[in-house]
Amino acid sequence: MLKYIKKYWYYAIWAPIFMIGEVCMDLLQPSFLSKIIDEGVNGIHNDGIPDVNIILTNGLIMIGLVILGGIFGVLSGVFANLCSQNFANDLRCDCFRRVMHLSFEQTDQFETGSLVTRITNDVTQIQNLVGLLIRGFVRTFMLFGGGIFCMLMLDLSFGIVLACALPLVVLFVIVFIRKASPKFKILQKRIDDLNSVLQENVSGARVVKAYVKEEYEKTRFDQANIGLVTTQRYVLKLFSLMQPITNIILNLSIVAIIYVGGINVKTNQGLTTGEIMAAITYISRILMAVLNMANLFQTASRAQVSTIRIKEILRTLPVIFDGSFKEKTSSFGKIEFQNVSFSYPDQEDVAVLHDLSFTIESGQTIGILGSTGSGKSSLVHLIPRFYDVSSGNILIDDVNIKEYSLEYLRSKISIALQKSELFSKTIYENIAFSNPSATKEEIEEVAKIACANDFIESKEAGYYTVVAEKGMSLSGGQKQRLSIARAILKPSEILIFDDTTSALDLKTEAKVFKNLNEKHKNKTKIIIAQRISTVMNADIIFVLEHGRIVDRGNHQQLLESSRIYQEIYNSQLKGGVGNE
Ligand SMILES: Nc1ncnc2c1ncn2[C@@H]1O[C@H](COP(=O)(O)OP(=O)(O)OP(=O)(O)O)[C@@H](O)[C@H]1O
Ligand SMILES: [Mg+2]
Repeated sequence: MLKYIKKYWYYAIWAPIFMIGEVCMDLLQPSFLSKIIDEGVNGIHNDGIPDVNIILTNGLIMIGLVILGGIFGVLSGVFANLCSQNFANDLRCDCFRRVMHLSFEQTDQFETGSLVTRITNDVTQIQNLVGLLIRGFVRTFMLFGGGIFCMLMLDLSFGIVLACALPLVVLFVIVFIRKASPKFKILQKRIDDLNSVLQENVSGARVVKAYVKEEYEKTRFDQANIGLVTTQRYVLKLFSLMQPITNIILNLSIVAIIYVGGINVKTNQGLTTGEIMAAITYISRILMAVLNMANLFQTASRAQVSTIRIKEILRTLPVIFDGSFKEKTSSFGKIEFQNVSFSYPDQEDVAVLHDLSFTIESGQTIGILGSTGSGKSSLVHLIPRFYDVSSGNILIDDVNIKEYSLEYLRSKISIALQKSELFSKTIYENIAFSNPSATKEEIEEVAKIACANDFIESKEAGYYTVVAEKGMSLSGGQKQRLSIARAILKPSEILIFDDTTSALDLKTEAKVFKNLNEKHKNKTKIIIAQRISTVMNADIIFVLEHGRIVDRGNHQQLLESSRIYQEIYNSQLKGGVGNE
């Protein structure tokens, strides 16, 4: 974490310097107060006659000290905030960057709710500590040390009061901190839980309503909320006890000071009433400093838990390693699978793909047909390295994909995922997401290819219609057409459609593929589908069953030779619906 503060060392230095100024003003005050009482009110150097001039002059000096102390305090606060806010900003950005580079499996492990808590709440906890450390640390320890020094300078006998009061307060503080510290870890976990329930319910609000599960979800939320509140209440209860206990010790100390001071005055050892008043002010500053130390420790132990959680993100090493191969003189979009097997990292004993070998020549269109769960999506996710193969190799343009830099590899591939994810931006921006430098004409052209232009133009704001979060304001087929347009717009050699026409009627689907073949003939295309009509015009169709390619060939060949293909054909197309 130090490296993040180092960058703002100039703020981190100015804040404590101004704080030293503020504390000095604080520590000077009691001596002027003492002067007002002794010389001004009691007139100890003037035969007991009060001196208004001394009262006024010292009173004005005290006001001046307060103003100066205030100015120093404000400046210290400004610099401390500048340091802690910039620190938190950098930390948040780095965490976000790291989250962006997490692989699919790593994101799943952390859970979205927890990632959100870590990047927001946990960073804020550490920010609080940084702010407090560079300001409060100096203040607390100077008031503590300076207070003790000034008090003993008044009279060494006050040391007895300090020797009794301080160990008591410190003992209480230690007990509280020890009791509260383990709760901070639980507290952050409770915030994770609450965020997870909240996030699931907000994004899944339609499902909750459709199944009339509002009450059930409300109970789930209440449980998570109660969990958080109970832990918070325990910690707050502990810390709310600290103030009254310190007050009791403070009042007892004041009595003790008056007693010790009284004996001193009575035996004419040199102490004055003003000095006793000053000693009372000092003891209250010293004990408040101890209370502030407790606050500092509390913030520190909370921030320590948060630091561990943030480090877990920052120290997560990529599991998908970047290659170095960036320069490729010629690109064709040839794909080769050599004995590829794959299991998901958290379920290594369950093979999802078994020993797949095939070559897709540049410009070919490949259809992948298979029942649900047969491994179609898993297969195409291996090509842009969303996951790495468990064994075997995948080559693109005769180079192992692990040798390419990830950025370069992914720039060659355009994939329209099975679930159309759209952003809460305009339709125009959603399409241009894959190629921000595209012109309006290019965007309109891809929208026409994806048969999306008509529905876009029928909207009042046309291409500038804002899409609701996750594309909620669009129909399933409209969302799919926008994600197809977005995929086509990306300048790449390989196009992958993962069941992205499933919500289109057969006529529109056929039109999309006809347009695509006319305008993007040279691209290698992989089209995944559960409907034969989607893939029947492909050069080769792979029939996938339980992660194995059980049959391959074009539509005609498969109709003649593949039992599974015939069965699917009979169930889907014999009724007369076909390719148009
Ligand atoms: N992230 C994941 N972690 C663990 N297992 C997974 C994951 N994603 C998919 N699987 C499993 O891998 C198998 C293949 O899933 P995949 O999504 O590739 O099937 P699919 O053919 O695309 O199915 P569909 O037609 O329903 O989209 C399934 O048994 C599924 O449960
Ligand atoms: Mg799938």
